Amino acid sequence: MKTRVLTGITTTGTPHLGNYAGAIRPAIEASRQPNVDAYFFMADYHALIKCEDPARVARSRLEIAATWLAGGLDVDKVTFYRQSDIPEILELCWLLTCVTPKGLMNRAHAYKASVDQNTARQVDPDDGVTMGLFSYPVLMAADILMFNAHKVPVGRDQVQHLEMARDIAQRFNHLYGQGKEFFVLPEAQVDDEVATLPGLDGRKMSKSYDNTIPLFEGGSKAMRQAISRIVTDSRQPGEPKDAEASHVYALYRAFATSSQASAFKAALEGGLAWGEAKEALFALLDDIVAPMRDRYAQLMADPQQIEDILQAGAAKARRESAELMGALREAVGLRQPS
Ligand code: TYM
Repeated sequence: MKTRVLTGITTTGTPHLGNYAGAIRPAIEASRQPNVDAYFFMADYHALIKCEDPARVARSRLEIAATWLAGGLDVDKVTFYRQSDIPEILELCWLLTCVTPKGLMNRAHAYKASVDQNTARQVDPDDGVTMGLFSYPVLMAADILMFNAHKVPVGRDQVQHLEMARDIAQRFNHLYGQGKEFFVLPEAQVDDEVATLPGLDGRKMSKSYDNTIPLFEGGSKAMRQAISRIVTDSRQPGEPKDAEASHVYALYRAFATSSQASAFKAALEGGLAWGEAKEALFALLDDIVAPMRDRYAQLMADPQQIEDILQAGAAKARRESAELMGALREAVGLRQPS
């Protein structure tokens, strides 16, 4: 049996190095393995939870799709689609919502973070919390369970969502399976080296913290400028640096070979100036990203080509999602067994 690998990216911003190293790169690598069947998608329903700007959602979807393709995704081998082209995902989301305990969602990190912020501001704990944000993990479970994914390459921030998807799958199997397992229990696949790629300020690199290094936007000039803004300590040139505590090193290590990383670490410990260290990081990243930039620019100039690829992917995905939904409607009693 083939291993199913699936992952998605929310279409709310410009793809950054964290998305690339945490999800796109490992997913594309996994999709090239023999005996792997891969499903990658643009999570645009998820985008609506965080973003009420239609133009931004549309632009981001194009940029993220172009990034996957520029990164070397083989559309003949991988099923590549837009979440909102698969209406069965929303129908499955409802079936799963009906078996998901509210208490499970109360524990979700994103929801708890909003509650904590509101409590600190001494306002209603649920101020500004929509039902979309609250039940976000159920929609994510529907994405994953719809295609019975075994492995889900993600950054560490998504691991809790994967645990919830397993809980929900188990509950559904138990309630409706009658000896049959409708859903595979998915596993998160996290690369330890890049589990949480730091941003310019050392917090997780994230669109919401505005601390990202863009992959393509602004070209190599913008990448160099962003790198020059990485926060470092005040040690002077010649003074030994604590590589393990530095974000410059963490970023370097996530993209370098192990021998490059050890040489860089030794240079930092030997007193390499931060300015030179940042130049070395830029050279490493630019070498990796430059070959993809042209392809990205060509794709961005031809949105119809991307649309055609996504439509073909959706048609392929729907053959499967429609069949599974048929069986699930029968299992829960919405239709007579055929
Ligand atoms: P999103 O759009 O926030 O991020 C997309 C992917 O990039 C990873 N990532 C990182 N990895 C390492 N270091 C970082 N600083 C970093 N920032 C982002 C994320 O872990 C993620 O893998 N809910 C998901 C999208 C989604 C999904 C799914 C993923 C919807 N349905 C089903 C997998 C399966 C999200 O918002 O990711």
